[in-house]
Amino acid sequence: MSLLTVNKLTSSVGAEVRGVEPERLVDDDHLGAAVLEALEDNGVLVFRDLQLEPRDQVAFCGRLGSVDFSSDGHHEVAGIYPITLNTAKNSAASYLRATFDWHIDGCTPTGDECPQKATVLSAVQVAERGGETEFANAYAAYDALTDDEKQRFGSLRVVHSLEASQRRVTPDPTPEELARWRARPTHEHPLVWTHRTGRKSLVLGASADYVVGMDLDDGRALLAELLERATVADNVYRHKWSVGDTVIWDNRGVLHRAAPYDPDSPREMLRTTVLGDEPIQ
Ligand code: OGA
Ligand code: MN
Repeated sequence: MSLLTVNKLTSSVGAEVRGVEPERLVDDDHLGAAVLEALEDNGVLVFRDLQLEPRDQVAFCGRLGSVDFSSDGHHEVAGIYPITLNTAKNSAASYLRATFDWHIDGCTPTGDECPQKATVLSAVQVAERGGETEFANAYAAYDALTDDEKQRFGSLRVVHSLEASQRRVTPDPTPEELARWRARPTHEHPLVWTHRTGRKSLVLGASADYVVGMDLDDGRALLAELLERATVADNVYRHKWSVGDTVIWDNRGVLHRAAPYDPDSPREMLRTTVLGDEPIQ
């Protein structure tokens, strides 16, 4: 019997986990594996009103893999990164506006790091309006292609860049901004990711700039069309946050985005990231 009680929230992505206390997430030696399995099956797990303490969140993430401590310094607890548009709470807040577009985290690393395995967000303060987080199933997006498309797209490669994702929210950058974006190397990834499990997903989102060897506009039109198909309402779970909720997503197999919220909103999420160990291939 599974250790977790899991109820699906939509037919394609997301499930709610009930009856788990924070202490068990931290202390139960078997729960990490059960959570990873449920994550593989559902893409997103929702723990409503979990009231997970920041330290416990980091400890729990340690059971799922290696915690990312590389962005420390924005919060008193190591391994916690505040997601907020308030620059007083996060000096890098301006970059976070790019979360309003569909994306997969970690497609444009500074080096050759793999995309993050999983990300946990807990709501400390929520937006009065907007600010939901939406998730779409990138495996389902591949599965929904026709056989002919699977054949044609199987060999396509896509260049991803920080500039591409930032330009969508900041179309007129200052020369300094542009230089900072361009300091980050671009990365070429296959459009279709064949995972170790054998499952395949589409690698799309804001960082996807153009298709290698294809006319620029045609390639961008294809990426836009595939993203639109991947994120049709039927393929999406939209989480409306309450303070104390914790959500975890499989960053390799889902696309996500934040619904717009006011820059002055108190919305604050505490994020912990579990590092990936699987390259996009
Ligand atoms: C992220 C992210 C979305 C949100 O933390 O990587 O995209 O709703 N967050 O804050
Ligand atoms: Mn993100």
